[in-house]
Amino acid sequence: MSLLARLKKNGPSGFGYGSTAEDVTAGRSLAGKTYLVTGCNSGLGLESLRVLALRGAHVIGTARTVEKALVACASVTGGQATGLACELADPSSVRACVDAVIGGGARLDGILCNAGIMALPRRELAYGVELQLFTNHVGHFLLVTGLLDHLAEDGRVVMTSSDAHRAAPGVGVDLDDLACARSYSAWRAYGQSKIANILFARGLTRRLAGGQRTANAVHPGVIATNLGRHMNPLMRAGLAVGKPLFLKTAEQGAATQVYVATHPGVAGVSGEYFADCNVARARAVAYDDDLAERLWSATEAIVARI
Ligand SMILES: NC(=O)c1ccc[n+]([C@@H]2O[C@H](COP(=O)([O-])OP(=O)(O)OC[C@H]3O[C@@H](n4cnc5c(N)ncnc54)[C@H](OP(=O)(O)O)[C@@H]3O)[C@@H](O)[C@H]2O)c1
Repeated sequence: MSLLARLKKNGPSGFGYGSTAEDVTAGRSLAGKTYLVTGCNSGLGLESLRVLALRGAHVIGTARTVEKALVACASVTGGQATGLACELADPSSVRACVDAVIGGGARLDGILCNAGIMALPRRELAYGVELQLFTNHVGHFLLVTGLLDHLAEDGRVVMTSSDAHRAAPGVGVDLDDLACARSYSAWRAYGQSKIANILFARGLTRRLAGGQRTANAVHPGVIATNLGRHMNPLMRAGLAVGKPLFLKTAEQGAATQVYVATHPGVAGVSGEYFADCNVARARAVAYDDDLAERLWSATEAIVARI
C-alpha cells in the first residue's frame, strides 16, 4: 500500500483512496447477478472480473480477442465467467459481442466500460475518428446502446473515465474536429476521450430518467498498468519511482468501478463522477448537458455510417 493510501482518510461512503475492490464488496454476495466487463484481460478489468466473480457473480469478460478473454475468465474462482471477443475499434466485433450477449439470454446488472488506450504518440484514426476517442468512447457507445434493452431494471452502466479528462480541449469535445486533424496532442486526445466517457454517462442518465437504471463515470486513481505502454520512458521512470509513494495498486484501482457497479449505497445515483469510491467533482464542462446531447448525436451519426 502506498504512503498516500495510508495517509488519506475515507470519504462519506465509508470507503476511500486505500479501499480495494474486495473491501467495497466485503460481506455481500453477488450470486444471481451478471456483469459485463470490457478489457477483462489486464489491469483494472482483470481485477474487476476477479472480484465480481469471487463474490459469486456471472461475469461476461470481453477482450480484444476471444483467446485473451478466455484465459482471463479461466483464472476466476467463485462465480462463473464467460469470455467474449470485443475489439472496440472494430464495429463488427462490437456488434458480434452484442449479439452473443443477447443470444446468451443474460439480463445485465451492470456494464463496466473499463477498456481503454492512452496517449498514443502519433495521431491514428479509426473510421475517420481519432483512435482514442473511437476506442474509449465510440466503441463503448456502440456496445452499451446495443445492450440497453438487456440491462436489468436497476442495472448500472459504469464508464471508466480518468482525471486526465481535465486535459481535454477547452470546449470539452471538439465536435468540429473529431479526427484531431487541426492539431494533435497525445494527452489532449486522451483527455477528450475520457471527458466523452463522462458526457456519455450524462446523456445516458437523461435517457434512463424515470427508471432505476443508472449511468456514472469514475476515475480509478493512478495505477501502474499496461496502460502506460505509450508513455515516454521518462514518465514511466517517474511512475516507477512514485509507485510506493502515491500510486494505487490494481486492487485499489478497481475499487471505484466495482463500488459504483454493485454497492447498495449507489442505487439511484446517476450522472455523477466518482473518485476514491465517493462522488467527486469533474471539470465544469463535463456537466454540460447540451454538449452531452451534441456528442450523443455526433456519435449516433458515426455509428450509423460504420
Ligand atoms: N491505470 C491508470 O492509472 C488509469 C488512470 C485513469 C484511468 N484509467 C482507465 O482505466 C481503464 C483500464 O485501464 P488499465 O489501467 O487497467 O489499463 P490496461 O492494463 O492497459 O488495460 C486496458 C484494457 O483495455 C483493453 N483494450 C485496449 N484497447 C482495446 C480495444 N481497441 N478494444 C478492446 N479492448 C481494448 C486492453 O486490451 P489489451 O491488453 O489486449 O491491449 C486491456 O484489456 C482505462 O479505461 C483507462 O483509461 C486508468
